[in-house]
Amino acid sequence: MDIAVIGSNMVDLITYTNQMPKAGETLEAPDFAIGCGGKGANQAVAAARLGAKVMMVSKVGEDLFAENTVNNLQRAGVDTRHVTVAAGTSSGVAPIFVDDQSQNRILIIKGANNHLSAADIDAAADELKACKLLVLQLEVPLPVVYYAIDFANQHGIPVILNPAPAVAGLDIDYACRCDFFMPNETELEILTGLPVVTEEDVLRAGQKLLGHGLKNLIITLGSRGSLWMQGDHCHSVAATPVKAVDTSGAGDAFIGCFAHYLVQDGDIPRAMALASAFAACSVTGRGTQRSYPDMDTFQRFLNV
Ligand code: RIB
Ligand code: NA
Repeated sequence: MDIAVIGSNMVDLITYTNQMPKAGETLEAPDFAIGCGGKGANQAVAAARLGAKVMMVSKVGEDLFAENTVNNLQRAGVDTRHVTVAAGTSSGVAPIFVDDQSQNRILIIKGANNHLSAADIDAAADELKACKLLVLQLEVPLPVVYYAIDFANQHGIPVILNPAPAVAGLDIDYACRCDFFMPNETELEILTGLPVVTEEDVLRAGQKLLGHGLKNLIITLGSRGSLWMQGDHCHSVAATPVKAVDTSGAGDAFIGCFAHYLVQDGDIPRAMALASAFAACSVTGRGTQRSYPDMDTFQRFLNV
């Protein structure tokens, strides 16, 4: 196995609209789509579509969505032996609102994802130990994320931590035990309490986080690209210019693709450049996972 994702899956309920109803109001929205999402599953699927051998440790609910979620992961080539049902729970769902500026607003109801536990990691320990990289986000309980980091440290497995969605109480000592800490600009703002508007802001907030002792900080900045900071060293990658249709899940596309190329040869700038292109390709299509290209489509995108 190349990559293990211990994390969430959700059902994305995407409404395309420019207007939100006020209290007591009924509004018609022009369009809707349902798809498989969740930051953990998105990152797993992004890497798997590119050919990485990926396993997931995740919880689905006892409902209609569960089977579809597992089938979808399997179709993408993700090993689902450790995707299990949390009895009596609903699967995680994410009502998402996308406007005609392609901006997204996401609500998450974690449901079964709240029931992922350290015991699930123990149950997958043999397979996890054989992985080259562990990828984590924050849509499952924080103690489970910390347990996973301890597990990876004990077994010498490199870790990517994507602190999404941002949790102000994240224990930064745990972030420092990960090889890559990868927030977006909103998460950076919440984690540091500093404004993140200009490029200088990004650098200042990044330096503040690095000051805690992070190994590698990679900040994803949407249409402004991405930035890798390590000690005094900085490397930035421009975003691939595209006409965006739906940016939901683009950050996950970046991380999943980055993980795939990182595992291949450890070349960080190259992994960032390819991840940036992969995320750009994803924003040209509607939805989260459904907009992630496979290797053939991605190669064609890179060649135009
Ligand atoms: O990052 C995008 C994802 O956030 C969506 O797929 C949604 O499910 C939420 O987890
Ligand atoms: Na998309």
